[in-house]
Amino acid sequence: MDEPVQQFVAELLQCLKKRTLVKLTLGNYKGDDASLQKILVRPVETKKGSRILFQYRGRTSDRVQNFDAAEAVSQIKDHLRSGFRSAHLFTTEKDLQLTIGKRSAKITAARPTFITAKLLPHDREKNYLVDRHAYYLKALGITADSGKIRNEARDKWKQINKFVEILRGLYESSNLKDKPLLKVVDMGSGKGYLTFAAYDFFGTQTSSSALSVIGVESRPYLVELCNQIARAGRYDGLKFVPASIADFEANNIDILIALHACDTATDDALHKGISAHASIIIAAPCCHHEIKAQMKSPELLAGILKHPVMRERTAETITDGIRSLLLEREGYKTKIFEFVATEHTPKNNMLVAIRSGSTAKDAAEIGREIESVMREFGIERQRLFDLLNDG
Ligand SMILES: C[S@@+](CC[C@H](N)C(=O)[O-])C[C@H]1O[C@@H](n2cnc3c(N)ncnc32)[C@H](O)[C@@H]1O
Repeated sequence: MDEPVQQFVAELLQCLKKRTLVKLTLGNYKGDDASLQKILVRPVETKKGSRILFQYRGRTSDRVQNFDAAEAVSQIKDHLRSGFRSAHLFTTEKDLQLTIGKRSAKITAARPTFITAKLLPHDREKNYLVDRHAYYLKALGITADSGKIRNEARDKWKQINKFVEILRGLYESSNLKDKPLLKVVDMGSGKGYLTFAAYDFFGTQTSSSALSVIGVESRPYLVELCNQIARAGRYDGLKFVPASIADFEANNIDILIALHACDTATDDALHKGISAHASIIIAAPCCHHEIKAQMKSPELLAGILKHPVMRERTAETITDGIRSLLLEREGYKTKIFEFVATEHTPKNNMLVAIRSGSTAKDAAEIGREIESVMREFGIERQRLFDLLNDG
């Protein structure tokens, strides 16, 4: 085994011993099992005690199997030998990404996305982070009077919890905890589900003494609805403003959120975050029309990108890839991973950027990399690229 693979397995062993494993994913499968695509691994509590649950995701079906810790490690070793080219280990201490190439493997570490390792019951409902008795959940129709989650809102409920989990991990490992005033802006806040959830989380769990959360939304009736709920719930420090993202005056933002803002509205939001030196930027890009409309296929990929679905996915990858490189050029460390799909879009990339303080040392090199990707795909305009270069 290559050294990085050995190191990855050793880290897995350690985190199982220390009970800091949150989850592990294996992907980019190139092995012989035509039906297998991914394996998702997480610790669970069963009647027989703690086990490691493996969920084998196939093209048409899923199956699950539990192992003890030693078996789990041996399974992972085997899978890394038999065709999985990518492995992502999330622990409460760090995230590790293993990439196995044709000739060699490499491992990269990042700050932890999750800060708690919850041992979830295998068969019972998840232990959710968000308080289901919060007023806003009832006002927005997620819960009934009893606090029970409405059946039709279960997906939204899961999405809210996932979002708060990610927010908490990012916040806990940031330098924002002791700020006397924490400023959060949610661009394209819509019906406000995630804005209220962010406010609720920061209001009850942070040590910041004052909190300002602003939802920016272009549709006035949604702004009105959300402000009414904020008033009725006595959510001081939370307000919604009717504005377009591009026109919103953004100063001194600590955390900028832009989830499912349509097409280039995501770029406007990222630009606001960068200009305001936001410490944390969280975006879940939605449609990718701008690049799709311009994208030409490099000669090498003509046979692949002739399929509309491949064009669509490539446009998504190139758009979010350019965005993340631009953020890196501007001095952010970035991560792209899977969030959860919504009723607005089945696309589920989440782009997280953490400000590291100054423009990247290799900014010129990153700039050249972006330009060569754009040239290769015949892209003349990319909104964030233009906003940053013209500003
Ligand atoms: C798909 S919804 C997502 C709402 C929320 N962020 C969520 O993820 O649940 C996108 C929202 O962004 C708003 N929006 C889109 N472009 C905008 C812009 N340029 N300025 C302000 N709001 C915008 C839309 O009106 C819509 O309510």
